[in-house]
Amino acid sequence: MPASCVIGLQWGDEAKGKLVDILAPQHDVVVRYQGGANAGHTVVFGDQVYKLHHVPSGILHPGVMNVITPGVVIEPDTLIRELTGLESRGNAPRRNLMISERAHMVMPWHILEDQVLNKQVVAGENIGTTLRGIGPCYRDKVGRTFAMRMTDLVRGNLRNRIDEIVAAKRNWLVGLGGGELAGQLDADGIYAMASRWSETLGPLIGDTTNFLLDSLDDNKKLLLEGAQGSLLDIDHGTYPFVTSSNSSGVGVSAGSGVPGRWIEHVIGVAKAYTTRVGGGPFPTELNNEQGNKIREIGREYGTTTGRPRRCGWFDAVAVRYTTRLSGIHGLSLMMLDVLSHFDTIEVCVAYELDGKRITNFPAEADELRRCQPIYETVEGWKVDVTGVRRWRDLPSQLLKYLDFISELIGVPIEVVSVGPDRAQTIFANSTKLSKLLRAGQAGK
Ligand code: IMP
Repeated sequence: MPASCVIGLQWGDEAKGKLVDILAPQHDVVVRYQGGANAGHTVVFGDQVYKLHHVPSGILHPGVMNVITPGVVIEPDTLIRELTGLESRGNAPRRNLMISERAHMVMPWHILEDQVLNKQVVAGENIGTTLRGIGPCYRDKVGRTFAMRMTDLVRGNLRNRIDEIVAAKRNWLVGLGGGELAGQLDADGIYAMASRWSETLGPLIGDTTNFLLDSLDDNKKLLLEGAQGSLLDIDHGTYPFVTSSNSSGVGVSAGSGVPGRWIEHVIGVAKAYTTRVGGGPFPTELNNEQGNKIREIGREYGTTTGRPRRCGWFDAVAVRYTTRLSGIHGLSLMMLDVLSHFDTIEVCVAYELDGKRITNFPAEADELRRCQPIYETVEGWKVDVTGVRRWRDLPSQLLKYLDFISELIGVPIEVVSVGPDRAQTIFANSTKLSKLLRAGQAGK
């Protein structure tokens, strides 16, 4: 199994971190390749809960290397806090972490720009970003003139770069109507901060592209961890209500430097219902008691921002689209325990758009906004499944529900999750994933 990927199929927060943490020991390297501190991965290990933003979810396994590649935008202060948080609980993350010199840095001006731009209404709504400076940083990366990369921390022209960029960014903020924020950009303070980043993170910075290519040549097994979800993909998602990176499966190679020929298995992760944070169309959204019930039972509040997540039923139109787009081989369906509390469960099987039934996911946000979900009702299982550990012990009604979802989206269900702990994850037998994992275990 040279390389496997874990990709979110909805609007993020599908519990990908949990799955990556479980699969990590069967791999040699875990790779984070896009997004930045907008992502919040929760890994629960026994009574310990770890909230990670940049650090790959394999970090709790000392024998596994963790790599942050060029496609990620790094907020160094947050990354350092993640490392010290892990260290304070007895982990040694600096021993198994490497950061690409090519990765871009989210600088203080990016965060201020995000604050100013996020007040704008786009396509009739506010994007509602995580305010982590993600869009402005990726924009500067593509623009090249004002970009700063991790390599700048170790190559010595930090002071000049910061002086030049701070002068330009102050004018830019004034032009955007953020004049009161421009005064917060103090080149001396930013230089002092960047010098600390350089000391703390410098030893971890290296050429991850060649490291990964060498690892593949040496028959090492890679696990590529997607952040956010496919519907937030900058090119193929619900634009402009998206993030600024390719968060679907199509972003794996560009962000990591791992060519497609090495990718053997792509696991899609979806919740058994749907959530979204921030603005944008959401056809199956439930603005009622049922939506509140999902939010409270599923503890659907943002890891990064604490915002309550918008909740709704499973949308098979959207997930079939992202399953195809992201090249998914098998699905991991999460949070099934939350649905145990419902007598009946709705699944959106098609949309009605301007009086017509459609099953293709529309490209335009305003079309998607006009879509009305067409539901099929499935009987609930009404049994507590949090203690189930084997596929064959799942209630028959739940198994029927899995078959229904699998048929709708066109791939097998390989994993289900019935609670937040590692132990509450059940793998189906005789799937491609289970075979690859057995072979992976044997090869280690
Ligand atoms: P940004 O990535 O902070 O620019 O935010 C753009 C949109 O993506 C907003 O709707 C965010 O709420 C959403 N978003 C970004 N990262 C995540 C994530 O990790 N989970 C869920 N939504 C996210």
